[in-house]
Amino acid sequence: MPVHEEIVGPIPDGRDPDEYDKLRRRVLWSMPYGLYVVGARAGERRNAMTLNFATQVATAPKMVAISVWKEALTHELVREGRVFALNLIDREDRAIVRKFVKPVEVDESGPTLNGFPFHDGPTGAPVLDGAVAWLDCAVRHELDCGDHTLFAGEVLDCGFQKPEDSPVLRMEDTRMNYGG
Ligand SMILES: Cc1cc2nc3c(=O)[nH]c(=O)nc-3n(C[C@H](O)[C@H](O)[C@H](O)COP(=O)(O)O)c2cc1C
Repeated sequence: MPVHEEIVGPIPDGRDPDEYDKLRRRVLWSMPYGLYVVGARAGERRNAMTLNFATQVATAPKMVAISVWKEALTHELVREGRVFALNLIDREDRAIVRKFVKPVEVDESGPTLNGFPFHDGPTGAPVLDGAVAWLDCAVRHELDCGDHTLFAGEVLDCGFQKPEDSPVLRMEDTRMNYGG
């Protein structure tokens, strides 16, 4: 397969590169995802970031992986602090995800992240008070995936903060895309 210069990755023989690039993006965007806010912490630096690249990846031990863009502040904090908190967001709170797409403003007196109250989870990573549930994880593995790093974290603690049947946010509840 020839590798096209501008389009990422190989183009199958006989395919129009531009058409194939668009098609591949649409197929990738069709993959179902949840939509989360990841809390990260290194020392006294904290951040929270909207993320859909997340899934459980092992049952023994209980491992959850997130894939984080290398340029993101969250990447720096997770790499340094070796912890993250995956916040499961209430479907009613879909507007939240737009508030966590660049480094947050931390108000330690609240304490709040971009105005959203939070507390530190057991590892120290920030958990949003309004999250339906949270998973507090310690990084055990990291995999270089190109422009993102996959961090696999062991679940050290977790909890619900709202009724367990509260619907949680999924990518399809928004008009946003990521990846592709
Ligand atoms: C709907 C949506 C999904 C996103 N998913 C991811 C993701 O899975 N991984 C990622 O690194 N960034 C993702 N982003 C981008 C980040 O939220 C953020 O803009 C960027 O990585 C910078 O974060 P920072 O505050 O850590 O610098 C997503 C953004 C949106 C709007």
